[in-house]
Amino acid sequence: MPKKTIASVDPRGKRVLIRVDFNVPIEDGRITDDRRIREAIPTIKSVIDRGGRAILVSHLGRPEGTGFEAEYSLKPCAGRLAELLGKPVEFPSSDCTDAASGAAVGALKDGQVVLLENLRFHKGEKKGDAAFAAKLAAYADVYVNDAFGTCHRPDASMVAVPKTLVGKPRVVGFLVEKEIKFLADALKKPAKPFVVVLGGAKVSDKMGAIEHLLPKADAVLVGGAMAYTFLAAMGKKVGNSKVETDKLADAKRAIDLAAKLKADLHLPTDHVCSTMFAEHGGDIEVFDEAIKDGYMGLDIGPKTQLKFALTIGKAKTVVWNGPMGVFEWPPFAVGTRAVANAIAEATGKGATTIVGGGDSAAAVEKFGLAARMSHVSTGGGASLEMLEGKPFESVDLLDNA
Ligand code: 3PG
Repeated sequence: MPKKTIASVDPRGKRVLIRVDFNVPIEDGRITDDRRIREAIPTIKSVIDRGGRAILVSHLGRPEGTGFEAEYSLKPCAGRLAELLGKPVEFPSSDCTDAASGAAVGALKDGQVVLLENLRFHKGEKKGDAAFAAKLAAYADVYVNDAFGTCHRPDASMVAVPKTLVGKPRVVGFLVEKEIKFLADALKKPAKPFVVVLGGAKVSDKMGAIEHLLPKADAVLVGGAMAYTFLAAMGKKVGNSKVETDKLADAKRAIDLAAKLKADLHLPTDHVCSTMFAEHGGDIEVFDEAIKDGYMGLDIGPKTQLKFALTIGKAKTVVWNGPMGVFEWPPFAVGTRAVANAIAEATGKGATTIVGGGDSAAAVEKFGLAARMSHVSTGGGASLEMLEGKPFESVDLLDNA
């Protein structure tokens, strides 16, 4: 059921509580990737440009829940947001529910923005606690969920707060609207051929997505460390590659399902291998099929890159989640880059191309290709759960369009 968006609410003079996901990487007090903040700007601007009063709440990291921890403060996000908006963002206190935060919310004027401190400094946030939610709900005339990365969590600000605000407008922001459009709606009846590219370390993380997407997919391309669990399940020699021995049965089940559904399941046929799990120092060799003992696969090989690129080149819809190798290390980044390039070219030829969040999003950013994808998700776990077809209570309970 499509949801009402912030565009359908007149925010003038209203206190609009916007749950954003500013859970961004921070090193030495500096934000190293501000994409989640940038992606929240359209919703925030829509509220303040129309005379609304924006109260932003978010979590950052996984603090203990026993009060302020400097390492998890959202203060750097307030600074970055002010730069992006070109206007001041108030950051009143070290506690999102104390008197100073309440006073800052009360003093907000039309068109102004306040960001409150990390919700997870309170245990009640993770517990979905009603008393904590009531304090946040008391700030709001309107509730907006624009925290796509957190939509799979039943946290207080995601579920209990909107539940408390029955009778007031409870809507999605533009980021959540866009993520649903690509990660759920576009995949209900994907334009064919539909190609799914999966990678990353663990078969266990991707089984749900494989089982949900296989029935619709024309081809599923598997790379990354998870491919070695598949190859081991097929009885291939994988040398010292990372194999999840407790997931061999799952891999076998996926292989059988692909055969039953007549979906092409492509596994790597050659591999860039090293004797060490390290960027430098190991003996690097490319093996066809059987990987020699003492070597581990760290990237897909050149033949596989070509085959994957050709398959992607014919697609009208592509979903990609998980890198093809250890792309953070240049000697093992070639396969991931080849897939990213092929997907960017497919977009240019009119395909709808969707990159799940987390590592694959980081890879396309690193290669400077993000703008050439139809959509790059801001969600990690959330994008994967949406690809698994799981429902999100945090969205379902909001007002229907
Ligand atoms: C994420 O980065 O995946 C979201 O911000 C959710 O964070 P969490 O996994 O700590 O709940």
